Amino acid sequence: MTAELSPIDKAKYAAARRSVDFVENGMKLGLGTGSTAAWMVRCLAERIRNDGLKVTTVATSKRTADLARDLGVPVMALDDVRWLDLTIDGTDEFDPNLNLIKGGGAALLQEKIVATASDRMVVIADAAKEVAQLGAFPLPVEVIPFGWQTTKALIEETLFSLDVLNREVKVRLNRGKPLKTDGGNYILDLHLKRIGNPRQLALVLNQIPGVVENGLFIDICDIVVIGNGDGRVTVRDINSGRVEDTTVDLAQSANIFADLGE
Ligand code: 5RP
Repeated sequence: MTAELSPIDKAKYAAARRSVDFVENGMKLGLGTGSTAAWMVRCLAERIRNDGLKVTTVATSKRTADLARDLGVPVMALDDVRWLDLTIDGTDEFDPNLNLIKGGGAALLQEKIVATASDRMVVIADAAKEVAQLGAFPLPVEVIPFGWQTTKALIEETLFSLDVLNREVKVRLNRGKPLKTDGGNYILDLHLKRIGNPRQLALVLNQIPGVVENGLFIDICDIVVIGNGDGRVTVRDINSGRVEDTTVDLAQSANIFADLGE
């Protein structure tokens, strides 16, 4: 069954599988968005079914909430839970300080709110997401639809005073129209190629009228779980400096691959 998955999917699965070891009975959990996070939701559902694990969760998108509920994972509103023990989410890039670019799945706003409302954030990624410096992946910025062209022009102007390599800004489209996020906003993708000072960029972007939030997650992630296509997994904890290598047995996971939802 595992032969049907690409090496990248196996890597995502391996990271997701290892990440649910961080979940303890009674925890309040944030569930991320994207293909890696979807694997994590499946692994969590398996633990709920097989081990009788009891958790309360908050989803970072409608997509994730639908998947979780379909698999029997209880989902609540953040306003009813308020504070979370742990959020597990994917990423588009992570650097050596575990700063991230997120929002490839257009869920960055809820993802940042949920991660910030959590005691700990664990990021799950395939090894290709690791970069020496952020910026090869276009930086998503969520903007209000009202006057978005003006907001775009302001962002372009602001980028001239910042340490980035490229300054192209494109609205993200869905069937020829600006894609709408769960919050009803648009996404502008900033093609910067290299971000010299992510902390400064994150602060400056959020001061531009019309910008709701940007996809830079600075000092939010605590642990990264990096998966490889052969099942090897590295866990890196930025606070303790600990690094741990393990292996996920992909052959023993055939049952979870059997009911692929995506
Ligand atoms: C969604 C995100 C995702 O976590 C990110 O795009 C990674 O996705 P995937 O796990 O599918 O590679 O930020 O907004």
